[in-house]
Amino acid sequence: MTVRPTMTGEEIVALARKHTLFEWSAQSKVDPIPIARAKGIYFWTPEGRRFIDFNSQLMCVNIGHGDERVVRAIQDQAAVLSYASPFMATQPRARLGQKLAEICPGDIDVFFFTNGGSEANENAVKLARWVTGRQKILARYRSYHGATAASITLTGDPRRWAAEPGIPGVVHVLDPYHGIERGWDSADQSLAMLEEVIQLEGPGTIAAFILETVTGTNGVLVPPDGYLEGVRELCTRYGILMICDEVMSGFGRTGEWFAVDHWSVVPDLLTMAKGLTSAYVQLGAVGMRRGIADQFKDRVFYGGLTYNSHPLACAAALATIQVYEDDRLIENARTMGVVMAQLLADLQRRHPSVGAVRSIGLFGIVELVRDRLTREPLAPFNGFSAEMAALGAFFRQEGLYTVVRWNSFYTNPPLCINEAELREGFGIIDRALEITDRGVG
Ligand SMILES: Cc1ncc(COP(=O)(O)O)c(C=O)c1O
Repeated sequence: MTVRPTMTGEEIVALARKHTLFEWSAQSKVDPIPIARAKGIYFWTPEGRRFIDFNSQLMCVNIGHGDERVVRAIQDQAAVLSYASPFMATQPRARLGQKLAEICPGDIDVFFFTNGGSEANENAVKLARWVTGRQKILARYRSYHGATAASITLTGDPRRWAAEPGIPGVVHVLDPYHGIERGWDSADQSLAMLEEVIQLEGPGTIAAFILETVTGTNGVLVPPDGYLEGVRELCTRYGILMICDEVMSGFGRTGEWFAVDHWSVVPDLLTMAKGLTSAYVQLGAVGMRRGIADQFKDRVFYGGLTYNSHPLACAAALATIQVYEDDRLIENARTMGVVMAQLLADLQRRHPSVGAVRSIGLFGIVELVRDRLTREPLAPFNGFSAEMAALGAFFRQEGLYTVVRWNSFYTNPPLCINEAELREGFGIIDRALEITDRGVG
């Protein structure tokens, strides 16, 4: 049975705008695409207009849309047991914990399940504070960690500003990357700055340092080699827990199960969501090393959620992980990632408005500039420009969906994409960049 909307796209948009709030937006400015169905790397409007999904929706539908194996697993679980109190134990919960222990790095063996990434980070902060007896949390400016109280305070980007002052005890540090004009610090410079902040704040007051292993919405920032290993070393030296937020970078996006695997670093806590179920059902988790979990053998774990370990979500996650394995999607992300890196480099070579491209696996970004010498971004930090708006409008008109933010846009397709589909998307991007090239002085 197919469930198709009975309303037109226009009716859906008008009614949704009338009675529902769209996130991070002034409501008069939102212009959503009405979406009715999706399959593989494509989705369709109710009228049948097709879009190539070059952002996996919100960097989350990693396995691709409409995978019947996952749909069936959700249906089967719903038919048998749709919900159980988190004080009970279910088979999908048990099996998912075991499976995650298998694929997570090192001795990250124990998991607390949440409804998404923000709650995973909330619980990571609680755990770090309880375990260390310290209060402060270090986080980076170019980061997004979620929208709930602690996670929006951890967030370094301008989405935090409206929620300030937020929770006490969060200290932000600079990243190795300083924007397209100033570029990158070396790993050594960045680590020296981090250690200086640790000294100035008082090492004995800091419970944890949270960082996106590969930063997502703030620029697909791949850390310089040696940086993550250095962070691990500093955290160990000062008794600070290392929390890696892999909500966006996890589950194959970078060509490994988790981005930390590229550098063989094992954090103390690892948060995940999005690709865990490929967003078929909402689920997040905080994974912890065995030594941290052991601390709650005789102490109470003061955390809970009605939908913790939700059976539908756990069943969806198990089926999703099976798809990654059966279809070798992590390997495909790696192989297609090489092709995508070439396509990105080609754009940079041919288009004067392309100031920088970065990618790892199928996690990619293009940063646009007004001037290749001064590297002035084509839109200011936290701002818009007519050229970026025109670029977004062209993508939409040509049926390519991706996120356009400030002076950048993303190339984050589902991991099931093949080379022809990748080239189809880049063909549209290639034509679109003629618009931004005209803005280059
Ligand atoms: C790195 C990172 N952490 C946390 C979150 C928050 O996750 P959620 O929106 O599922 O609460 C996001 C969401 O985009 C994210 O990208």
